[in-house]
Amino acid sequence: MENFIIENTELIIREATKSDAKDLIDYLDKIAGESDFLTFGVGEMIISLEQEEMFLENSYKQENALIALVFLDERIIGCVSLAGGVKPRLRHVGEMGISVLEAYWGKGVGEMMIDYLINWSKKTGVIRKINLKVRNDNARGLNLYKRTGFELEGTVRRDMLIGNKFYDSIIMGMLID
Ligand SMILES: CC(C)(COP(=O)(O)OP(=O)(O)OC[C@H]1O[C@@H](n2cnc3c(N)ncnc32)[C@H](O)[C@@H]1OP(=O)(O)O)[C@@H](O)C(=O)NCCC(=O)NCCS
Repeated sequence: MENFIIENTELIIREATKSDAKDLIDYLDKIAGESDFLTFGVGEMIISLEQEEMFLENSYKQENALIALVFLDERIIGCVSLAGGVKPRLRHVGEMGISVLEAYWGKGVGEMMIDYLINWSKKTGVIRKINLKVRNDNARGLNLYKRTGFELEGTVRRDMLIGNKFYDSIIMGMLID
């Protein structure tokens, strides 16, 4: 657990546990409707409380996986995740996911979560590469990833289909030494 201050407000970041499952489901429901940049839209994140609890418990146990939550007055306002590979040849690679509640965008919460994830990754001694995918029209996300040291690795065409429109994504990566 770490504390940090943004705009005179104290925030806490810590690894999620099973007991965060209900609040995390509510948070995911909310962010689903706040942008079109996630892999799920409103009502598309269908997961039961038991499934979410198992998911969090499992992630907590894995040395190459992390779900970290940012709290403001005990309310979740941000989430960063890393899902490491399962097979031995892929265990050193983690796929990052990140989100912030819209009301708190552009205040540095995203940057703070990435710093936290990088430090955590270094400490694992297992994670040697962080990958992420970002829609190529997600200017805010792209800005954040470039600024925090992610490098461009390629393009995935037709990565998302929303309604009847396809969206390409950019793959970015960071080496962890
Ligand atoms: C992407 C996201 C995680 C960033 O979190 P955040 O807390 O807003 O990030 P920060 O405040 O640390 O940094 C945002 C960066 O975008 C910049 N920015 C702010 N408004 C912007 C805009 N309208 N267009 C482009 N960049 C913008 C900020 O200036 C900052 O970059 P800079 O400091 O280099 O200028 C958050 O906006 C979010 O959850 N978006 C919706 C979901 C999403 O896109 N998730 C990522 C999917 S890959």
